[in-house]
Amino acid sequence: MAEVSQAWLDRVERAQQMAAERLGVDVSSMLPPRDISEGEAAETAPPTQAAAPQPEPAAVAAEATPEPAPQTEPAPVAEAEPVATAVAPAEEAPTEVAAATAEAQAPTTVQSNGSVAAAAERVAPVGRAAVLEGFETGQEGINRREFLSYAWGGALTLLTLESGLATYQFMYPRFREGEFGGKFILGDATALPQIGIDPEGNSTGKFWLINTDEGPRALYMVCTHLGCLYKWEPSNNRFECPCHGSKFDREGHYIEGPAPRSLDQFLVEIVEGGSIVSQTEDAGDFISAPAQPSPEAEIVVDTGKRLQGKPKALSPAKAVPS
Ligand code: FES
Repeated sequence: MAEVSQAWLDRVERAQQMAAERLGVDVSSMLPPRDISEGEAAETAPPTQAAAPQPEPAAVAAEATPEPAPQTEPAPVAEAEPVATAVAPAEEAPTEVAAATAEAQAPTTVQSNGSVAAAAERVAPVGRAAVLEGFETGQEGINRREFLSYAWGGALTLLTLESGLATYQFMYPRFREGEFGGKFILGDATALPQIGIDPEGNSTGKFWLINTDEGPRALYMVCTHLGCLYKWEPSNNRFECPCHGSKFDREGHYIEGPAPRSLDQFLVEIVEGGSIVSQTEDAGDFISAPAQPSPEAEIVVDTGKRLQGKPKALSPAKAVPS
């Protein structure tokens, strides 16, 4: 034990010398190493180790002696703990970064109550409104108010067009061929009754068709008095109204009765080669019939064009002076 203490004293002495050289002081000013006994060495050895943490002697001893000094060995261990502590947060850092990333990517998870469903419900109306706005408009840059304005404008325009079309059709009705108000294509001259025989009634066209020396005529079936349907009386060879007794000859001229005028007539057209060669015309004091058709001609009655009968005073067939 005494040898160990002496060796330790030698090292202390060398350390003092080296320190004096570094500090530039006289080594004699330092306290000489004490000559300790075996008992003192046993008592003083621990305090020496306890004094090892003093920085300067320990550092000098570490540099002077290649072998590790006893008092310097604990130092790395003491410094290793902070390193381990510093590493530990580094290992935990990815977890925090991941949490921050998840927080940024899913803001709904950052709620005071931590309820994702509640956050989604609060966000949903805003998102739904934005989606509806974009969906309803279907165009970027058009909001809901503008879309509704356009819709109302379109509806009003369509309503105006429909009203105009209905008014036009009411004022200028168009009838199909073969229906009252339209044209009746009777065919060639063989479709006409022979001259001097009874007239033929056409209930669909509401006219009596007769043939005379002047040409064919189509008499409107309605009485010119109050609108009754008069009849052909073969026995009297004239038309008679059952309502008030007005009478007309076979060409529609007024004979007698309360009717104010002769019978109305529809326009009769003689068509050859697609062109009208003759037709019923208003001659002023009377209504002229079209010319007799040729065998190639086509007879057309236009029930959309009615010529009003002449006043009874102008009738060549009147029986009672007015
Ligand atoms: Fe024909 Fe009166 S309706 S005479």
